[in-house]
Amino acid sequence: MTNKLKYFIGNWKMFGDFGSFKIVSKINQYSYKHQKSNKKKIILCVPNTLIHYFKKKLKSEFISLGAQNCHHHDGYGAFTGSVNASMLKKMGAKFIILGHSENRTEGETNQLIKKKIISALNQKLNIIFCIGETYTEKKEGKTFSILKKQLKNSLERKFKMNKIIFAYEPVWSIGTNKIPSIDELRNTIKFIKSECKKIFKTKKIPRVLYGGSVNRKNIQLFSTIYEIDGFLIGGASQSSKKFIDIIKNYYK
Ligand code: 13P
Repeated sequence: MTNKLKYFIGNWKMFGDFGSFKIVSKINQYSYKHQKSNKKKIILCVPNTLIHYFKKKLKSEFISLGAQNCHHHDGYGAFTGSVNASMLKKMGAKFIILGHSENRTEGETNQLIKKKIISALNQKLNIIFCIGETYTEKKEGKTFSILKKQLKNSLERKFKMNKIIFAYEPVWSIGTNKIPSIDELRNTIKFIKSECKKIFKTKKIPRVLYGGSVNRKNIQLFSTIYEIDGFLIGGASQSSKKFIDIIKNYYK
């Protein structure tokens, strides 16, 4: 097993209330107990309504908390229902998911996501930037061209690459129990890494995660792909047992 730092990031989506702190607490305890055994970083991206509450309840933090989206505007403004990156940072978020396909479906464009990336970088938040093709795009052989477009149209060379973690989430694999083949996934992760290196004109290797129907059974398949730097986990992160089992099985 590799000694490379691996990320296990939970995306709770629209889930949870104050009582869900027990999930956070169990995962935090697990992280504390196993902090030395493998190099890993655990992050939970929870609803905005819970970030501050969880942050305060966690007496010692062995995990980090993150948000799932933000408005692109830097300061306050007349944007009913919206929250900006600075407000999330003040609540205790260290990470933020941007470009998730569920928000792209609601109309987020690559250009809008770029604005959000800029505002999150201004707040020194760490970004988990999601990209991925739809089923139709995959069938039409457009996966690489779509990924390239999503990267090129939302990133600029001057952005700090070390503040961005890329997450490859094929839309057709989210919540469907369908996963890419191991060869396919390895090639796609390699492709994303090489495209990022071109955009940032760097020799440093970008961090790329996989997300989409990751569970305690299929995680061992993914562990054979050296190039993957970790996982963005949706449904299974809403249960401390399922989430911890994923980590345990990864290192088995
Ligand atoms: P699932 O793990 O539920 O497929 O969700 C993946 C996801 O969207 C994480 O951002």
